[in-house]
Amino acid sequence: MSSSQFFASSPFSPNSRLKRRSKFTYKHLSTLAHSATNCPLRVIAHIDLDAFYAQCETVRLGIDPTKPLAVQQWQGLIAINYPARAFGLSRHVTISEAKEKCPELICQHVATWKEGDTKWSYSDDSAQAFREIHVRKVSLDPYRIESRKILATIKDCLPKDLQKVEKASIDEVFVDLSAQVHSIMLERYPELQGPPPYDDPTECLPRPPTTALDWAADALVDVDSTQSEEDDPDWDDIAILIASEIVRDVRAKIKEMLHYTCSAGISRNKMLAKLGSGHKKPNSQTVIRNRAVQHFLSSFKFTKIRNLGGKLGDQVVAAFNTDTVSDLLPVPVEQLKRQLGDDTGSWLYSVLRGEDQSEVNPRTAIKSMLSAKSFRPSINSFEVACKWLRIFVADIFSRLVEEGVLENKRRPKTINLHHRQGAQTRSKQAPIPMGRIITEDALFDLAKNLLAQVVVDGRAWPCANLSLSVGGFEDGVTGNKGIGGFLVRREEAKALNAAPVLQGWSKAKSRSKRSDTAPPSKRRKKDGSEIANFFGAGSRETSLQEEADLGRNGFVDDDTTALEYDSDDMKPHRDYDEDDNAIEEPFEELYSDPGERGLASTPHPPLSQPASPLPGPQAVQSDIETHLCTRCSKSIPVEKQSEHEDFHFAQDLQNQHSSQPDPPPRPIPPAAKPSQAQAKPRGRGRPPLNASGQGGVEKGQRKLAFG
Ligand code: CTP
Ligand code: CA
Ligand code: CA
Repeated sequence: MSSSQFFASSPFSPNSRLKRRSKFTYKHLSTLAHSATNCPLRVIAHIDLDAFYAQCETVRLGIDPTKPLAVQQWQGLIAINYPARAFGLSRHVTISEAKEKCPELICQHVATWKEGDTKWSYSDDSAQAFREIHVRKVSLDPYRIESRKILATIKDCLPKDLQKVEKASIDEVFVDLSAQVHSIMLERYPELQGPPPYDDPTECLPRPPTTALDWAADALVDVDSTQSEEDDPDWDDIAILIASEIVRDVRAKIKEMLHYTCSAGISRNKMLAKLGSGHKKPNSQTVIRNRAVQHFLSSFKFTKIRNLGGKLGDQVVAAFNTDTVSDLLPVPVEQLKRQLGDDTGSWLYSVLRGEDQSEVNPRTAIKSMLSAKSFRPSINSFEVACKWLRIFVADIFSRLVEEGVLENKRRPKTINLHHRQGAQTRSKQAPIPMGRIITEDALFDLAKNLLAQVVVDGRAWPCANLSLSVGGFEDGVTGNKGIGGFLVRREEAKALNAAPVLQGWSKAKSRSKRSDTAPPSKRRKKDGSEIANFFGAGSRETSLQEEADLGRNGFVDDDTTALEYDSDDMKPHRDYDEDDNAIEEPFEELYSDPGERGLASTPHPPLSQPASPLPGPQAVQSDIETHLCTRCSKSIPVEKQSEHEDFHFAQDLQNQHSSQPDPPPRPIPPAAKPSQAQAKPRGRGRPPLNASGQGGVEKGQRKLAFG
């Protein structure tokens, strides 16, 4: 269509066009179709389930949702539904306080794995679950399963070819609605379909024909003081209105199909959408139009903004002696840069003005899985720790299977063990051998070896927390179905051990690109120079990657689809707010045990076996009863005998493994001496791990035989 035809067919004469021009151009409209992150018409939604775990339980048990209910984990509460919140209950109250405030409260204990079980289960008797805390660990699988159903329902509501959905945590998603909204706009307003006048995409669009919009029952944030509701709507208002309709339908579908209520925020970017979903809960959606952004943001503490909840936020508070957005708005960008560094300063300047160009990343694949347990009392032997490793492996393995790793041909590349003794946290990592089918037993052996490394290093007991994670998931080569997948249950393992070797894991990284607008310090975390700003100094044995994984809470994330990663390895970039995760969700396993949730005051049952006394200065006495070790002829204090035996056991394991060839065989660098090939695990004084966390192998030194 030529430009003259455009004028002939347009309902707007050149004159009326001049009078009624949108501030948006044809170019803007076309970038909306491509979900461009810099499109000023962009529309993003954030959907967050209300009191998620609590709703899972009411739905599962068919309980009337108006009844107060809390989800119990041992002696703490991890989720409180809204009827119970009306009684003033929060996650911080103890069960007895909660029952006092709300005698009607239904407390449902989370599912648990019991030692020796092959699957998690619910116990009818939460007091019994608590009594068995020593042999049980929490399973959040039921909530993950519901989470998957919700995600599938959301996707079903959206057109296949135009949807962009990012799972942001177990109970929330971001949806980039731009492309869908664009297509609806063209349908509803055919005047937008034509090519631009003079074929010039910088020409402004005609103004929308409507002067009043029906925002239905959505919470509409008031416009900025510089704006007026009397101003006619422009296309950004229309876009957000259409998005709001879509989100209302999605929420209705989730309710209808799965019986869950959720809240949503709809705005021009992820940051604002996320703030919006928490603005009015439960069961409502909040719309933040462009003309209301500044008004909306001014009411917030900036520490509630994505990426500003953690140490970066603390730094800014310290630098400017305020935590409110409105106090920082008058600060000139130059001053922000001077005090926070150029990149962080200009990033913050934009964020305070509601700018965020981070992309909605539609990958849904899991990046890591973690299984963890805090021990009260601490555990004191390799044998007991191995029992827990068995449970962790069973838990992780079943999730690998359930997540469809079998079908999707993905596999984790690394296995990590985190061990806490007193204030010291140690992490050991090993590659999961490629070219072999992953079996439950193989994972267990790897885990056991990692633990053996900790034991060999010494000071392993008493251990207060153990966690195991697998990560670095990679896509496999497709079309390799004949093998029957990469995972095999224990019983199948033997038969399959002789199966052909799988080749050719795709090296292509499908990792998301880091957003351009993440805080610059986070973007640069890889060089290690700024990591301390966000995560604090870690144990010397903790790799950069692990440090990032550990986050502020000291625990690795699970199902970390929510996280943003650097392009080449898995690195969560998010802020935790340890008391209240309103900023960015900590994940499920972060809370799988009371210790993880910082419930230090959680009462624990009387110790069935008192923990052996810590070897402290007082243990250095002359009349210590000793035992002569037949292996090394050393005299060992009797109470240390079992630890010492563990040491030999671990060393044997290590030797046994180091004598086995590493699959796939790696050439030994010429400078490597045979003795170095069996180097001790990384410990104090060992070279730091490299930036990708893959283990800093010294020049001329072969990678550890443990892998
Ligand atoms: N969770 C947790 N411990 C925390 C924070 C969250 O165990 N400190 C779990 C909760 O059980 C919760 C789920 O993670 O159900 C999602 O957390 P979040 O969205 O923050 O809270 P909700 O309970 O869903 O409540 P809201 O309605 O405020 O979103
Ligand atoms: Ca929620
Ligand atoms: Ca949430």
